[in-house]
Amino acid sequence: MTDLRRPLVAGNWKMNGLRADGLARTRALVDKAGKRPPAIDILICPPATLLTTIGRALGGRRGAIALGAQDCAPRTSGAHTGDIAAPMLADAGCRYVILGHSERRGDHRETSALVRAKATAALDSGLTPIVCVGETAAQRRAGKTLAVVRNQLARSLPEAAVARPFVVAYEPVWAIGSGHTPTPAEVGKVHGALRAWLEGRLGERAAAVRLLYGGSVNGANAQALMAVANVDGGLIGGASLKVDEFWSICVATAGNRKTTRRPARKQGGKVKR
Ligand code: 13P
Repeated sequence: MTDLRRPLVAGNWKMNGLRADGLARTRALVDKAGKRPPAIDILICPPATLLTTIGRALGGRRGAIALGAQDCAPRTSGAHTGDIAAPMLADAGCRYVILGHSERRGDHRETSALVRAKATAALDSGLTPIVCVGETAAQRRAGKTLAVVRNQLARSLPEAAVARPFVVAYEPVWAIGSGHTPTPAEVGKVHGALRAWLEGRLGERAAAVRLLYGGSVNGANAQALMAVANVDGGLIGGASLKVDEFWSICVATAGNRKTTRRPARKQGGKVKR
């Protein structure tokens, strides 16, 4: 039997890092992972300028820590000054791409329709999209959290996601960089609702989709947040810029590892229910 959802801890460096400090951070992380590899997937998403440099320091495509980007264009090539296409990211060694982060939805007015087009481009290029959803403080106060995240997910997920791997990150906008987080029970409610929605859309395949929580995760709260049902890892911002803190989140996540296994198969290949 194999684990259906191996936990994933992803560091989103956002617009932080020059060559020297990015490299130092990466080398320290590779060193820690080499000495004591945790039973989880680890991902680093540096700014686009550092993708090649950090990718090399991670050991390339075969490295234990994966490389990811923070955005991609919806088109695959052409006259789009300043944009970076998904095939270019794959060519640079990326395995994942974060899409629809609330900072992009806010700063660049990205709609879910655009996120869906980007996710399609990412899947077509062999990248695993990490599709972000999350409610604002006002939406939360109005009791709209579940409706907002379901709606964002429904509009952001492309048709192609039915057959290919992708990741969803729940990041409440009010929790990002604020030092505040929802309670584990609140996170559990949202992740449970996202899983249920995915089951309606994907059927059995929904059980393989990793749901990450993001927003003010740190070394002190990681254990409680990562232990919540249907939380399959974290998307980490500020704390991913500090090696020891990021590493303690990885270790806490590995320690909490849930055993979500594939359903047993009966003889003749029929899935037992
Ligand atoms: P913080 O961990 O800094 O709150 O950021 C979360 C985030 O936005 C990750 O994508």
